[in-house]
Amino acid sequence: FRTQAAAAEVRPAPSATPSARPVATPPAFSVPLSVPPTLRPSKVTADTDYYEITIGKSHANIVPGARTEVLTYQGSYPGPTIRARSGRKVVIKQRNHLDEPASVHLHGGSVEQASDGSPMTPIKSGGSQIYTYPNLQPHANLWMHDHTHHLESEHLYRGLANLYLLTDRIEQSLPLPSGRYDVPLMLSDVRLDSKGQLVYEMDDAFNRTTLLVNGRPRPYFKVDARKYRFRLVNTSNLRMFWLSLSDGTPLTVIGADGGLLPAPYETERLLISPGERADLIIDFSKYAPGTQLILKNDLPPGDPSLIGEVIRFDVGRKVRDTSSVPATLRTLPAVPEADTTRQMVMYMDEVGAGTNAFLNGKAFDAGRIDIDIKHGSTEEWILTNTSQTIPHNFHTHLVQFRVTGRNGGPATGFETGLKDTVLLWPGEYVTLRATFDTYRGVFPYHCHMVDHSAMGMMAQMRIA
Ligand code: C2O
Ligand code: CU
Ligand code: CU
Repeated sequence: FRTQAAAAEVRPAPSATPSARPVATPPAFSVPLSVPPTLRPSKVTADTDYYEITIGKSHANIVPGARTEVLTYQGSYPGPTIRARSGRKVVIKQRNHLDEPASVHLHGGSVEQASDGSPMTPIKSGGSQIYTYPNLQPHANLWMHDHTHHLESEHLYRGLANLYLLTDRIEQSLPLPSGRYDVPLMLSDVRLDSKGQLVYEMDDAFNRTTLLVNGRPRPYFKVDARKYRFRLVNTSNLRMFWLSLSDGTPLTVIGADGGLLPAPYETERLLISPGERADLIIDFSKYAPGTQLILKNDLPPGDPSLIGEVIRFDVGRKVRDTSSVPATLRTLPAVPEADTTRQMVMYMDEVGAGTNAFLNGKAFDAGRIDIDIKHGSTEEWILTNTSQTIPHNFHTHLVQFRVTGRNGGPATGFETGLKDTVLLWPGEYVTLRATFDTYRGVFPYHCHMVDHSAMGMMAQMRIA
């Protein structure tokens, strides 16, 4: 019945004027990929890059024949990429031209409370705020998105997201693909009506059946026959992406949320839940010019939200490639011993509208501090998803953490790197360790299936 509901959405509406002709999602691989522009600083000083961004309504060409109303950072759908360097500050003046509050969060960033863009300190309509990002952490694949409490889900869905790629000397010293061979891929999904406009409803996972890469519906991308680096971020509210290449060639994964892994690894399927990032190398040099390779989305059969393809790579000519993937990418410090252990239970009502979501039995209350953390200490958190059928994922502000176990076994794959978001299937448990030795203050942690956090699956920690 869900399929019928989706089909009803694109059924042509009777209309007299050609301009009101209904639009539908185009067939797969009929539009080219676009790459979000890199934002230019408005001012550069010896130690700081200054940017100005306007948050506003705009139009995007998502499907041919329609001007889709979207929300944008600086007019770009999705938002422009910011490239920053460890040790250089970034200061962004955000102007809110929406007729409602907005709040900008640097996801994965180590940032003071005043610039965290927390849910309860939005920029009011017509106002502006200056966010300061010290970039004192090592390189990382960060991203920015709206975090206004109760509006974050709709704002993110309508386009308020961008990549913030933080680099450092260690990363720069590696011979990885760079320049135009280092390509952001922002993965999301939307529900479009017959006029090509976005339809937003809370917790509407099964109807968001148009997959987008950088805001384009299942695009194709012309690549040279050489190595590429792809920076993936799953910006969708609820959708899992389970990626593989159509010819069965394994994906080479080199990085996660908090930057490069200690060593690359190969996997036939890579699962990325909402908010997570993955850094991939695909080597197209073994393919003959003219080869078409599809990055597939392999969800379990029967999943009503299944969409089998994400993007097609059209392999072109062979070009010189001096890049390579070293066997050792970085050294991570040893996982610290924990001073304190806590339980975090994630649960959501599965009957009825499912409008109640809890962390440790409580729905979010901005007036409540849920845990007190001693500055300088390391904590071990045991996360459990007690929902019967609903996956959750856990994200905490302020820190990158280490995953120390999953369901009693060790962390594997990209969970061996620095992480700030981790997936829990129903019934799973995951342990992590984080050290709180940077900023003091109050910061949220929550499920990053943002419709769930908007429904209450969020809490606050105070570091003092
Ligand atoms: Cu990406 Cu509190 O979120
Ligand atoms: Cu965050
Ligand atoms: Cu959740």
